[in-house]
Amino acid sequence: MPCSTIIGANASERVRAKRSNMNDAWKRRQTLKPVHIGLLGLGTVGGSTYQVLTRNAEEIARRAGRGIVITHASVRSPDRVPPLGLEGVKLSDNPQTVVDDPDVDVVVELIGSYEDAFRLVMRAIENGKHVVTANKGLIALRGNEIFEAAQQHGIMVAFEAAVGGGIPIIKSIREGLAGNKIEWLAGIVNGTTNFILTSMLEQGREFGDVLAEAQRLGYAEADPTFDVDGIDAAHKLTILASIAFGIPLQFQKVYTEGVSVVRPEDIVYARELGYIIKHLAIARKTDDRVELRVHPTLIPESRLIANVNGVMNAILVSADALGPTLYYGAGAGGEATASAVVADVVDVVRTMTADPNNRVPHLAFKPDQIADLPISSIEDVETSYYIRLQAVDRPGVLAKVAGITGALDISIEAVIQKEPGEGETTVPLILLTRKVKERAVNEAIREFKAFDDIVGDIVRLRVESLI
Ligand code: HSE
Repeated sequence: MPCSTIIGANASERVRAKRSNMNDAWKRRQTLKPVHIGLLGLGTVGGSTYQVLTRNAEEIARRAGRGIVITHASVRSPDRVPPLGLEGVKLSDNPQTVVDDPDVDVVVELIGSYEDAFRLVMRAIENGKHVVTANKGLIALRGNEIFEAAQQHGIMVAFEAAVGGGIPIIKSIREGLAGNKIEWLAGIVNGTTNFILTSMLEQGREFGDVLAEAQRLGYAEADPTFDVDGIDAAHKLTILASIAFGIPLQFQKVYTEGVSVVRPEDIVYARELGYIIKHLAIARKTDDRVELRVHPTLIPESRLIANVNGVMNAILVSADALGPTLYYGAGAGGEATASAVVADVVDVVRTMTADPNNRVPHLAFKPDQIADLPISSIEDVETSYYIRLQAVDRPGVLAKVAGITGALDISIEAVIQKEPGEGETTVPLILLTRKVKERAVNEAIREFKAFDDIVGDIVRLRVESLI
């Protein structure tokens, strides 16, 4: 009988009976032994994971259907244990002791390195323990092997915290958008580079100066080249593209360009043209290929994502049924990242008794449906370009520049020529092109370099309309 036809005293009795059955089921689940977590690493994210799990234990148990407790943790140095209380937590200085502890059900890997983390995660899988990790490099570089092993052993490996810190972007794409074809995504997925670009824009500061501040504030990775050269963003893009398009993880095929090519004057000229420069991670599905690229990008200042500033992250996803959606939040930091780690733990606990074949696949698509689509070469990418030249200030130079672009079928959308500085004989010339293949732009730059009246470095940045 449809619910809407239940009326009168009879119906209330049935509702009461149903509630009482639900309460019994809840009580039965409460009697389940709590799930035991083995935590690898008690650094910033590890310590925050302990605090969130402890502080919100009751709420989390109501969601997961049973208690979740950290019973064993590894610390790098036993004499530098953070003052967290750690009541009832066994401490080891060897993470393998945690992974091999028969009392541990789920291993949470927060040590960060690739090689040690890979060895420990594979061992946890062999030991039949589910894994939660925040390690983007590990998933981007070794994820294919990890998921294959996990599949064989019926183990879950969850990695929400690997991309966008606390933003639930993996879950959103993998589950929330499961009915859509993803067309493209573009993300600000590195807080350090966004902090640098925002400070350069708002305070007109030089790149090196802002980077030093980002390091002082603890935003940058231990090795800041990972942030600055776009490697951290490329790790995250590898993961996002894989779950968006059902392709294998292939970090080596991401075209990566760092943020240090952007000069303060480019930020100013871009603004004059109506654009903001952001360091974007972009994945786009064309007819039969996928583009994977990380680079500084001019985006129209009217886009919401153009206004994501400081260390914040945001990912814009274009899906065929839903259209564009924007996911915004804290991309790093102890409690923000712990939020994603704990959500993964809850997910694992909720489904650990489910048939492994009926769980959400690691990479969103069933393992036998992962399609190895070709990745576009950057020369085949078609977009618009910002080109900054330093030109000798004399008649005919602009005509020659236009001759080079015209011959290569590059259509110019806008040109800015600035006044020469006091006593200077050259002027900055900024070209904004319409959409064109990168191959043609590279050829134009080669010809500009061979032209005597163009001096100094040529800056080439890509432009995306994000619609
Ligand atoms: N270094 C990263 C960032 C931290 O700047 O976003 C989180 O991955």
